Amino acid sequence: MEQLEQQQAETLGAIAEAATPEAVEAIRVAALGKQGWVSALLKTLGGMSPEQRQSEGPKIHAAREAVTAALAERKGALEAAALDARLAAETVDLSLPAPEAPKGSVHPVSQVMDELAEIFADMGFAVASGPEIEDDWHNFTALNMPETHPARAMHDTFYFPDKDAEGRAMLLRTHTSPVQIRAMLKQGAPLRVIAPGRVYRSDSDATHTPMFHQIEGLVIDKGIHLGHLKWTLETFLKAFFERDDIVLRLRPSYFPFTEPSVEVDVGYTVVNGKRVVGGGGDVENGGWMEVLGSGMVNRRVIEFGGLDPDQWQGFAFGTGVDRLAMLKYGMDDLRAFFDGDVRWLQHYGFGALDVPTLSGGVGVKA
Ligand code: DAH
Repeated sequence: MEQLEQQQAETLGAIAEAATPEAVEAIRVAALGKQGWVSALLKTLGGMSPEQRQSEGPKIHAAREAVTAALAERKGALEAAALDARLAAETVDLSLPAPEAPKGSVHPVSQVMDELAEIFADMGFAVASGPEIEDDWHNFTALNMPETHPARAMHDTFYFPDKDAEGRAMLLRTHTSPVQIRAMLKQGAPLRVIAPGRVYRSDSDATHTPMFHQIEGLVIDKGIHLGHLKWTLETFLKAFFERDDIVLRLRPSYFPFTEPSVEVDVGYTVVNGKRVVGGGGDVENGGWMEVLGSGMVNRRVIEFGGLDPDQWQGFAFGTGVDRLAMLKYGMDDLRAFFDGDVRWLQHYGFGALDVPTLSGGVGVKA
């Protein structure tokens, strides 16, 4: 029994010195675990005489209780110390400045494209797309510009050195019009799509950049005529510029892919020396500016799109998205659109929550 007292004293001493919860656990196993010394002593009770058991039993149980209590106390003390240390290390400094708000803005081109998608969705147009790396069949031939057509030369096309597997010359699309062909071939008729996207021409000055943005519109259906075109463009421009006094002038023109072709001018008024879309036209202090190319889709283009032109007719239009953005939001140098100057972006950019909706207004600026 002297041994018991000695082991108990050693165990209690070790518990008092245990510095980590792991050390406490190791001591518990050595004393109270299946192979532990307390457990071993408890097992000896069975082989004792009743008198021996009566005198030794309480000592062994007392030792077990003393060790159990000391283990619990030490474990509690270590956990409390660990919590104190964590609380001390995790202080919150309320005098620190607030973290910077996330930076970034929606580029006016993206914003205007979203506005256009919203406006045309309301008129039943879906958004279609095509590749920026095009072949000359989609970009020219199928739009009624055969290889010798002079309009090809007017596009300042960027060509790739190699042809594709079908022997077609590859290029960066010079306009969004090839999406007309792709949409007809893929979706058939009737059809109502817009196709916004990047286009490329080897050209550069204050109003031209080698990459810019266009939006194409195409309607194919039965009995479509120029009146539908005019109504659609008028409705679109009124919604886009958020004015009811939009005046249009359709001028006869020529595009290979439309017949007849019209160029669309919108009336502007001069306000504080600046041209503002709306009103204007043939009045003093006003004038016309060209905003769109359009026309009735050429029969040959409908055929190239895999449709029967005796059955299906349509109209198409195309315009520059960057230019629309400049007219609406008042920028005057196109090159700044693509400089990535953070000051310009902060000034002309839109907040992530300025989502254009017809109900909320397609041109709200925060
Ligand atoms: N593709 C023409 C261009 O880039 C714009 C255009 C004119 C598109 C008339 C059309 C259209 O759909 O009907 O200059």
